Amino acid sequence: MEAVIIVDVLRRAGAEVIVASVEPQLEVEAAGGTRLVADTSISKCANEVFDLVALPGGMPGSARLRDCEVLRQITSKQAEGKRLYGAICAAPAITLLPWGLLRRKQMTGHPAFMDKLPTFWAVASKIQVSGELTTSRGPGTSFEFALSLVDQLFGESVAKEVGQLLLMQADDDTQRKEEYNKVEWSFDHNPRVLLPIANGSEEIEIVAIVDILRRAKVDVVVASIEKSVQILASRGIKIVADKLIGDAAESVYDLIILPGGNAGAERLHKSKVLKKLLQEQYTAGRIYGAVCSSPAVLHRQGLLKDKRATAHPSVVTNLNNVSNGAKVVIDGKLITSKGLSTVTDFALAIVSKLFGHARTRCVAEGLVFDYPRS
Ligand SMILES: *[C@@H]1O[C@H](CO)[C@@H](O)[C@H](O)[C@H]1NC(C)=O
Ligand SMILES: *[C@@H]1O[C@H](CO)[C@@H](O)[C@H](O)[C@H]1NC(C)=O
Repeated sequence: MEAVIIVDVLRRAGAEVIVASVEPQLEVEAAGGTRLVADTSISKCANEVFDLVALPGGMPGSARLRDCEVLRQITSKQAEGKRLYGAICAAPAITLLPWGLLRRKQMTGHPAFMDKLPTFWAVASKIQVSGELTTSRGPGTSFEFALSLVDQLFGESVAKEVGQLLLMQADDDTQRKEEYNKVEWSFDHNPRVLLPIANGSEEIEIVAIVDILRRAKVDVVVASIEKSVQILASRGIKIVADKLIGDAAESVYDLIILPGGNAGAERLHKSKVLKKLLQEQYTAGRIYGAVCSSPAVLHRQGLLKDKRATAHPSVVTNLNNVSNGAKVVIDGKLITSKGLSTVTDFALAIVSKLFGHARTRCVAEGLVFDYPRS
């Protein structure tokens, strides 16, 4: 989530972002088992000058970054040259600290790593900007972290504009969720979720849904509706699915969830295999949902009939029974959300329906995401 949110948000702001692998190969397995394909190898970046070097957290990822000598040199040059560098989650304590790049600077990090940071300099704020260094706490603070980097690179007005694109309302009066026709979503087995993805799907939504559901121990299958398992997401991140939709269609899923992204949603809509799976899901009374532009796909396939839903503001007017305001709307066995920054609430709402409040609080805490006590 951290890597993908940083890349996506910076690219939306207009930055040229290079995703570099410190592994011998370009494909890496991120936390939560998401497979991402980097743009290049770190060795190709050794002699370049960057305006920002940003380090995602995650374990053992942060230790793998720390052990990469080329990356250490790039980041040290960055600090010496008084250019921006940033780290989130485990990365301040596990990567920057041993490199000596936190010296005499206030910093923050994931709560689980705070005791490793120098006591006098560690602060518990979501974002800490100390000269060239910016640090933050975890997946749940990644949007704010990325926006702070946008602010420092492009200025406040661009940061504000991007924040609006991400649907990050400053107010918190937007209600978290609304529920109609309440029914239980509980299973006597570990729930299985199908997440179909396509070229042009929104990477933030894919990765956040997969990561958060897997943290809650849900069995998630990511299936590509393209000819290959590798898809090219909307902001240029390459994601490798677990299987192709044709193979995934041999099983039955407790939930089918569609990520958004305009072009991706259009491609999902055109998949005949997926259309059949969604119809079966609906007819059998099983759970389904969508975020961002994808509730429009459900609508076009007749799956929102008599149901209350929400979607990205750009498509919401096309739905006929829109709920006003809430980030997440549940109607019986349907769940929809506005998308982008609301995806964390969306995924947590699924966890809450499946397992209840206590497990959801626990997952939210690990993400360092503000979640209500009751
Ligand atoms: C989808 O993306 C993959 C991976 O980047 C690419 O190989 C493929 O050609 C794309 N498919 C279409 C139909 O654009
Ligand atoms: C809108 O959704 C509500 C809640 O599920 C439902 O009772 C109502 O019939 C729906 N209205 C329309 C016009 O579909």
